[in-house]
Amino acid sequence: MATVLVTGCAGFIGSHTTERLLRRGNFVVGVDNFDPLFYGREIKERNLRWAKEQRNFAFFEADICDQEAMQEIFERYRPEKVVHLAALAGVVPSLDRPIDYDRVNVLGTVILLELSRRYGVEMFVFASSSSVYGADTKAPFKEDEPAVRPISPYGATKRMAELIAYTFHHLHDMNITCLRFLPFTDLARDQTLPFTNSPAVSSRANLSPFTAMGQASGTTLTLTTSLTGLKQRLTNLWATKSSTSAAANR
Ligand SMILES: NC(=O)c1ccc[n+]([C@@H]2O[C@H](COP(=O)([O-])OP(=O)(O)OC[C@H]3O[C@@H](n4cnc5c(N)ncnc54)[C@H](O)[C@@H]3O)[C@@H](O)[C@H]2O)c1
Repeated sequence: MATVLVTGCAGFIGSHTTERLLRRGNFVVGVDNFDPLFYGREIKERNLRWAKEQRNFAFFEADICDQEAMQEIFERYRPEKVVHLAALAGVVPSLDRPIDYDRVNVLGTVILLELSRRYGVEMFVFASSSSVYGADTKAPFKEDEPAVRPISPYGATKRMAELIAYTFHHLHDMNITCLRFLPFTDLARDQTLPFTNSPAVSSRANLSPFTAMGQASGTTLTLTTSLTGLKQRLTNLWATKSSTSAAANR
């Protein structure tokens, strides 16, 4: 089973992802800095409680923008797959903190992409957002929309990260998947994220299944907006090493 680096592992999606991978038998290296933007450390600690009891889990409280700390983790664990979920999330707070959002969401992503390139990571999954579509994209959203007019710093930083991910894919033939999540939350864990003013929300059920874009010699850069296909896609992504390209091409 592959070793998987999960950034943002204490968060809502990250803690569920970590739990699923650990139950599958993967070795998970989790990174989170317990950023207090949306909810407190105690909730994130609680999210990680079960994972921390597992022998196939290693946790590092670290900032993804700390290049040296990230490099040490790559050097020590040599992850084969990276699920990059750490971010400053949310549209509304990004209006007041564009510099912080840019640092974490863009610089942090570039650091992880570059380390993934250097250490030969086989698969890189990036949590993007439907916020990349901005105000002038008609719902239901389509993955091949240009998405060049995000209307919040948050949406813009996610789009910037997608674009640099494309560049890494193009230059280094890296297998990268960008998942454009729609806003959702985990009420059971008291984690509510501010709802984005997204026209897709009312037509969520109509969203098309994911489609692949930018295919090149067995690797893909894939964008998806579909919640329906997400579970299946994630399951496929970390299924087996040898099936990764095929899974990403579906
Ligand atoms: N939940 C949604 O509705 C939604 C929608 C669209 C996109 N996304 C994206 O999915 C990903 C996960 O979202 P979530 O809902 O789990 O959010 P979350 O806030 O629960 O989790 C993000 C985690 O990243 C950590 N983090 C933030 N900055 C960090 C840094 N510099 N270094 C290390 N860790 C850091 C936080 O402490 C947090 O635990 C994010 O990238 C988010 O932008 C989520």
